[in-house]
Amino acid sequence: MVDLKGQYIKIQKEVDLAMRKVIQSTSFINGPAVKEFSSNLENYLEIANVIPCANGTDALQIALMALGLEKGDEIICPDFTFVATVEVAELLGLKTVLVDVDSDTFMLTAEEIEKAITPKTKAIVPVHLFGQCAPMEAILGLAKKHNLFVIEDAAQAIGAEYTFANGTKLKAGTIGDIGTTSFFPSKNLGCFGDGGAVFTKDATLARKCKTLVNHGMGTEYSYECVGINSRLDSIQAAVLNVKLKYLDSYNTARLEVANYYDQAFSNCTQLSIPYRNEKSSHVFHQYTLKLEGGINRDALVQYMNDKGIPVKVYYPKPLHSFAPYKQVTAKEDDFKVTNSLCSSVISLPIHTELSQEALKYITSSLVAFF
Ligand SMILES: Cc1ncc(COP(=O)(O)O)c(C=O)c1O
Repeated sequence: MVDLKGQYIKIQKEVDLAMRKVIQSTSFINGPAVKEFSSNLENYLEIANVIPCANGTDALQIALMALGLEKGDEIICPDFTFVATVEVAELLGLKTVLVDVDSDTFMLTAEEIEKAITPKTKAIVPVHLFGQCAPMEAILGLAKKHNLFVIEDAAQAIGAEYTFANGTKLKAGTIGDIGTTSFFPSKNLGCFGDGGAVFTKDATLARKCKTLVNHGMGTEYSYECVGINSRLDSIQAAVLNVKLKYLDSYNTARLEVANYYDQAFSNCTQLSIPYRNEKSSHVFHQYTLKLEGGINRDALVQYMNDKGIPVKVYYPKPLHSFAPYKQVTAKEDDFKVTNSLCSSVISLPIHTELSQEALKYITSSLVAFF
């Protein structure tokens, strides 16, 4: 699904040098490379505070902790996403209220969110799924009306840009109260291990996050709150400093692949190509098709794999179907769209190294299946 080796080879000299510098400095934790990376990412995202941490899951946990959410508080999350978004909320004793998503964008809608708001609701967690922003203007409007926090999970959408009705443009993760991301190797901006970050424009929240990531420590050995150990390694920061320079070109390469796929499948009635929301740019973390008309997905996966083409299903089951995330008072009918997406979506390889030859082979093979 990705070609990390091919991408590495193109920047090998730069990355190896940056990593070697960290090794020679022996400043492995919170060294200059980490500080340089937060500052570089702040400039890129045009936000005052980036707090690097150990992974995207921790980033979500830190965001929830920084906002002071307490046991029993409800947070609204999409049913159709990766588990990390809800896992940390449950760990903190919060109640995750899962809601259905839109059948075109695969993301939360203001209508579904509003139905789920109760007096205990404290936050909304939109996930910018597959590389496109959730409907942030409507979500911010709801948050304001009901006095709720907005935590954006931008793990899959770093670099995507949302345009408001008044023309203001903001990058994914910088729109709500706190944004989070992941630098897992296959992400659009991936490091060579685990990594993540929290973003916020609020100086008080930023200070809280900085304290939380380092054992709740204010000044050395003075503990202000219960924290966690979630620091980004300097070696990962060094890799990210190099790769951040190429992020826009990486995202453009992904978009070109998506455009090629769109074109190739435009006459294929059995496939729905990814919806593009005019309010958000798309950085195509995934290229996810919907199969129409009862196509046998398992047979299609087998067929593509037999041709040496990896395809994946993101996500095969809704979160509410798993015991830890069961929605006690909800009915199965409340998740109609998610249930249907889980049985009809399929993602094709998308990354920065796909050749025209590979694209031709993937698309002609898929079309031939029908
Ligand atoms: C939407 C979303 N949120 C959070 C995460 C968690 O990130 P990490 O794997 O860095 O903990 C991921 C990673 O796959 C993700 O896709």
